[in-house]
Amino acid sequence: MKRTCVIGYPIEHSRSPLIHNYWIKKYSIAGEYTKKSVPHETIFEYLKKLKSNGFIGANVTIPHKRTALQVANEADAAAVAIGAANTLWYEREQLIAGNTDGYGFLTHLDTSAPDWPADRPAAVLGAGGAAQAVIYALQQRGVSKIRLFNRTRAKAEALAARFGDQIDVAPWQTRSEGLQDCGLLVNTTALGMAGNDPLEIDLSHLPQEAVVYDIVYVPLKTPLLAAAQVRQLRSVDGLGMLLHQAVPGFERWYGIRPEVTSELYAMVAQDISASSC
Ligand code: ATR
Repeated sequence: MKRTCVIGYPIEHSRSPLIHNYWIKKYSIAGEYTKKSVPHETIFEYLKKLKSNGFIGANVTIPHKRTALQVANEADAAAVAIGAANTLWYEREQLIAGNTDGYGFLTHLDTSAPDWPADRPAAVLGAGGAAQAVIYALQQRGVSKIRLFNRTRAKAEALAARFGDQIDVAPWQTRSEGLQDCGLLVNTTALGMAGNDPLEIDLSHLPQEAVVYDIVYVPLKTPLLAAAQVRQLRSVDGLGMLLHQAVPGFERWYGIRPEVTSELYAMVAQDISASSC
């Protein structure tokens, strides 16, 4: 039995077990994917001994993604650039850390809006961990201008200093007017998430060919995505990113590259609608 898990604190609301156990069943693998709640005090030791804790690999989520990178013997280029890891596996008895968030973000974008205008500036809202993965992915794709809006300017400036001069930091208050000429708008903040304040933004400045991407997936259709649809802009939801980021980890652990199917999407979407958190 090949055991894997997702480790976070708290972890109750994670949908990763639904996703990975769907694939384990679909591909008739002798495996099991569970949730592990591990507090700050013990996370380093827990990850260090992942194998003796019974796991061939794991996903790591908030608030332990930075620790996952620190614990590992080696890391892939994405984890190093983003400064955090969400996937752990073993190679030659060494613990390896990877980050698949940027991959999931970009794959879902390419699948949902194949000709999204990558030659225009991209607007990114937020400067937390999720924003780092999004900026890394956009730079990998060759987006040459990223306009970064964050409530706390200093955090946006710190990101710009790390990711280079393709990033223009703009005041949070200008997030609506600042969309003119952008080909992509990405919300990486938690605004619009169930239980949080809505994201206040006026999409009328976006060009008609622009794509609006919200990485929030509870609710599935956030007020931002609803506003994009009213303006007849293409919209991309956060659930697809979650599903696609799971693919490389599953392949590492179980040796099969799993498919993101509409059946899987519908199953997780149903779980989200049923619990609304
Ligand atoms: P994650 O790792 O999921 O990205 P995070 O690091 O806590 O989470 O980042 C949350 C982002 O949402 C931050 O950019 C935060 O802005 P600040 O840097 O100013 O804290 C943003 N955010 C959260 N609540 C917000 C609010 N009410 N208004 C504007 N931005 C908000």
